[in-house]
Amino acid sequence: MGDPILSVKNLTVHFHTEAGVVKALEDVSFSVGQGEVLGLVGETGCGKSVTALSVMRLIPTPPGRIVGGTIHFDGRDVLALSEEEMRSLRGKDMAMIFQDPISSLNPVFTAGYQVEEAIVTHEAVPRREDLIARVTGLFKKVNISDPEKSVRSYPHMLSGGMKQRVMIAMGLSCSPRLIIADEPTTALDVSIQAQILSLIRRLQMEGGSSVLLISHDLGVIAAMAQTVAVMYAGSIVEKTSVKTLFDRPLHPYTRGLLGAIPRLDVDQERLSVIPGTLPDLFNLPRGCKFRERCSEALPLCAEGRPLLAEIEPGHEVACYARA
Ligand SMILES: Nc1ncnc2c1ncn2[C@@H]1O[C@H](COP(=O)(O)OP(=O)(O)OP(=O)(O)O)[C@@H](O)[C@H]1O
Ligand SMILES: [Mg+2]
Repeated sequence: MGDPILSVKNLTVHFHTEAGVVKALEDVSFSVGQGEVLGLVGETGCGKSVTALSVMRLIPTPPGRIVGGTIHFDGRDVLALSEEEMRSLRGKDMAMIFQDPISSLNPVFTAGYQVEEAIVTHEAVPRREDLIARVTGLFKKVNISDPEKSVRSYPHMLSGGMKQRVMIAMGLSCSPRLIIADEPTTALDVSIQAQILSLIRRLQMEGGSSVLLISHDLGVIAAMAQTVAVMYAGSIVEKTSVKTLFDRPLHPYTRGLLGAIPRLDVDQERLSVIPGTLPDLFNLPRGCKFRERCSEALPLCAEGRPLLAEIEPGHEVACYARA
């Protein structure tokens, strides 16, 4: 597959708040290959969006600070780039599709104008007719109904699904090499969700771009990604192919997540849920962060933090009970 387009190593991010230091990410490492879709999954507050924002260098500072680790995009050291270099990278080479299309669009400009702006920020497009034709073409590509009219519509005139399509058109406007999609369908109805996911998948395959897909929904990840990283309380606890994760999950947290998915082929009286809640990120326990919710915890798990280790080829797990 060649060199990865994105390589994150030991990323550690803290937020300094009045209540104390939130340890949002700790030693997060993963990479996304050329043309690969990597899924990042985990429950709310585990650090998925902070990971995405760190890669785009959009962590609000203060209160946030990247306190350790490295991020390389296409061989470039992202944390060493100037703000200007970063601005030219964002939108052009790496684009982000956010969780909430409704608040990401500006209500006072037409949908078409906002996509035009995204293009002219990065490219000199001389003629306005060309620009409008390009945006209309993009709207067609993402299946926006009546593209000629929709480019002239204001966001409030479009449905939630159409607004998300506008955001995707904006994200794709400069053919980025990496698309970061942070819960791109969470705000949408289930039927629209499926359409948007198949759209992202089709565009990814056509354009050959790489995708970091963030979701709390393992079903979404299974449908879209080749590889999946499971996050828990700011750390990656398991990383492998989607197939292996579903066939042979090893981390007790992943097993719990999979157990919480309803299945039609097994007689389940009720869904198993993982007991307890995420640990306090202000005051993390010693040892494994999952220990207090884990039915397999060993005395060793209270001593140190297990690191991700390759337990079988292509299958990394951070768990002393599995090592
Ligand atoms: N600006 C901020 N100030 C303080 N803490 C923050 C800030 N942004 C994020 N955090 C904290 O970092 C942790 C990780 O948050 P993050 O938004 O990455 O979670 P997430 O996995 O994306 O959750 P969700 O599924 O709800 O989107 C949380 O505990 C959150 O409170
Ligand atoms: Mg989030």
